[in-house]
Amino acid sequence: MQTLLGIDLGGTKIAAAAVQNGKIIAKVIIPTPKDGAQSVFAAMIEAAKEVLKTAPASRVGVGVPGPLDFKKGEIKFAPNINGIINAPVVAAISAGLGLPVELENDANAAGLAEHTYGAGRGASSSYFITISTGIGGGIIINDRVWRGANGIAGEIGHITALPGGVIAGSGVSGALEAVASGTAMARDATYAYARPVDTKELFAMAEAGDWKALKIVNQAAFYIGTAIGDLQKNLDPEVFVLGGGVSEVGDFFLDKIRAVAEDGAKGFAIPVIRKAVLGSDAGVIGAALAARE
Ligand code: BGC
Repeated sequence: MQTLLGIDLGGTKIAAAAVQNGKIIAKVIIPTPKDGAQSVFAAMIEAAKEVLKTAPASRVGVGVPGPLDFKKGEIKFAPNINGIINAPVVAAISAGLGLPVELENDANAAGLAEHTYGAGRGASSSYFITISTGIGGGIIINDRVWRGANGIAGEIGHITALPGGVIAGSGVSGALEAVASGTAMARDATYAYARPVDTKELFAMAEAGDWKALKIVNQAAFYIGTAIGDLQKNLDPEVFVLGGGVSEVGDFFLDKIRAVAEDGAKGFAIPVIRKAVLGSDAGVIGAALAARE
């Protein structure tokens, strides 16, 4: 059986895993360095080498935030990771490991994994949305990632959700991820309570009925649900799969998003929204799948 190595670069952590037939056989997770592309690539290589010690693989796939330049094998910029601009990720990782490297967007990779082995299984088309440090999307049609003409298809975190709103790492004002990501909710909660509040605490407070926490969570659900209602009318996928750290908080958040999305697409078609099932492993499994491609 072929062993593939997947590396998933996230805003807070890097995961590397050896994957056989969609199953992880070895995995290493380390924090994402905050001091630029050189350190980030070195950390990705280090994590991968650690995995390769116990599980040799011949092909590598990397799932990284974008927008990406697939032709050059570069990250144009990573909105939520300091110092990553025009960064040649494919060349760096390939040189570091001495193996061929396939590039994929992190959300495309996770979406492909959910489509192949998880919540999107059996659907002819699925739209994966990850809500965590940023917000990303992956469009899968007929079992293949749809990257678009310029490789940016599915960059849903950077659509305008609130014209004139907070400026995101991409420079887009009122970008969906600037108003509804985990980072955005924690930022709003920290401001509203005048003390550091993370998403875990925010959701606990909201579920307990705290009115300010509820307002913050409802507002994020409103922006995400509105985007899904719009996407339903735009792409009409068979299923939306919601993943990422924030979606692991349970049905509480998902139900709110679903209500807004259904309202937004009323009269057209009710969006089918499912919770991702592969959890934080979707990224590395999908990156490994990209190597198979
Ligand atoms: C990036 C996407 C990525 C998402 C989740 C966004 O800021 O632009 O490419 O998929 O974050 O990591």
